[in-house]
Amino acid sequence: MTTPTDCQHGGDAPAPESNPERTTTPSQLSRRRFLQSAAAAATIGAAPHLRAQTQAPAAASPAPQSHPVPPRPVTLSVNGRAYTLQLEPRVTLLDALREYAGLMGTKKGCDRGQCGACTVLVDGRRINSCLTLAVMHEGENITTVEGLASNVALSPIQRAFIEHDAFQCGYCTPGQLCSATALLSEFRNGTASIVSADVRARPAALTDDEIRERMSGNICRCGAYANIVAAVRAAHDNA
Ligand code: FES
Ligand code: FES
Repeated sequence: MTTPTDCQHGGDAPAPESNPERTTTPSQLSRRRFLQSAAAAATIGAAPHLRAQTQAPAAASPAPQSHPVPPRPVTLSVNGRAYTLQLEPRVTLLDALREYAGLMGTKKGCDRGQCGACTVLVDGRRINSCLTLAVMHEGENITTVEGLASNVALSPIQRAFIEHDAFQCGYCTPGQLCSATALLSEFRNGTASIVSADVRARPAALTDDEIRERMSGNICRCGAYANIVAAVRAAHDNA
């Protein structure tokens, strides 16, 4: 025989106090559901990671085999003299000059093509020697700062740098001198720059803006720029 209380609550049905959905407000309910969903999603997302952690580590892949290329003789013509050096193919022209040929005038600043300290001339063209491999320059004429002066006199741009006090610490100066040397011949040959009024025409004058633009690849940490511009202008005007 059932009591009125048994019939009212249906036997096994939970007591009202134990059912959270019956005792919470709608906003509490939606927040709880949101948190339950988020927890489930986090568990699913973490499952592959957990599985990976519990799996036995895969067998280590074998270390890549290195096949060093042995040094071979490379002959560079620098400042009119032939240097036969034993070089690996990965040696930059800058390192070949400094570390193998013993020509320390060319400076290493950034070693990544940003400062111009390593500028040298290759067949009259200025390049950053840190960005090119020595083996690529066999048979070409390389000029470093040591090769700008003749046996008896400094070059015009070297004299102008001294007369206009165009350096302080001097670290950038070898690159500045090589770059300025090429700049003067580029201008003489009629090469336009980005600031030339008409890039299809021969630039009319080597203005200070032209000099600044054409020397912009050579950084001077001492900030001797005003005197460098004056020196380049003087070397051009006195040529
Ligand atoms: S060392 Fe070559 S550009 Fe700086
Ligand atoms: S003179 Fe010092 S970095 Fe140019």
